[in-house]
Amino acid sequence: MPALKLGNGKITLSYIDQGEGDICLVFLHGFPFTAELWRPQVDALAHRYRIIAPNLRGFGNSLLPAEPYTLANLADDVAELIAALGLKKVVIVGLSMGGYVAFELFRRHQRLVRALVLADTKPDPDTETAREARARLAQLAESDGSAAVTRELLPKLLAERTRTTHPQIEQQLIQMMDAARPEAIAAASRAMAERVDSRPLLPRITLPVLVIGGSEDSLAPPEPTRAWARALPNAIVHFIKGAGHVSNLERPEEFNHLLSDFLGQVTSRSVRQP
Ligand code: MLT
Repeated sequence: MPALKLGNGKITLSYIDQGEGDICLVFLHGFPFTAELWRPQVDALAHRYRIIAPNLRGFGNSLLPAEPYTLANLADDVAELIAALGLKKVVIVGLSMGGYVAFELFRRHQRLVRALVLADTKPDPDTETAREARARLAQLAESDGSAAVTRELLPKLLAERTRTTHPQIEQQLIQMMDAARPEAIAAASRAMAERVDSRPLLPRITLPVLVIGGSEDSLAPPEPTRAWARALPNAIVHFIKGAGHVSNLERPEEFNHLLSDFLGQVTSRSVRQP
């Protein structure tokens, strides 16, 4: 997997870079996963599009700098990666934490964004209770290691039906989460706890947006998702029946179908740019 030094040499991000095409998609993974979360999308779409999927700070082979970071820093990393690869405008696809970073990217680097796909995510900041839970999770990672975090998070991630009919998906998540470095989990938890409210941003996102949710997602449930998505001027909203919080893995065919349809619409409406 290639890697680039960014931030004046302080950050090293590894990333999937596959496929070719006039249109580039940049996939931002959720927590505490890696770019491999997007394997079903990379494999299905790389014959038509260039696909970039970075490992965010500390995940996969990407380095974790010693200082704490914010989600704005993660967005700046991705913007720098996009520029370093010579890309001008890309379609950003973010799942959950990746969606939080996508909001920051739009806020800070709007000129790089051609369209947005926001999956299983939300624009709200954490409540006080959620912040306290993040602090506890960060401490758990540091004291008991990643597997303890996996045990805590796993029951919330997948729809019950996915767990019974596709146990290999659960295994894949366990592997990815157990392999995450405890310090990376702690740093990301603390960064998410401090994220800013992106709800005021929604009416300003006039770009095409596809919002995808899972009908069984308990972390970003359909009703609140429908409500915040109404504030987006140019959005399509779709819930994948039977999917939980990791809809791209749980229902890859439907997810890819929605993505392909959306990309078809976006690209037929706009002038192609590298
Ligand atoms: C994720 O999947 O990225 C997490 O559920 C995000 C979060 O903890 O808010």
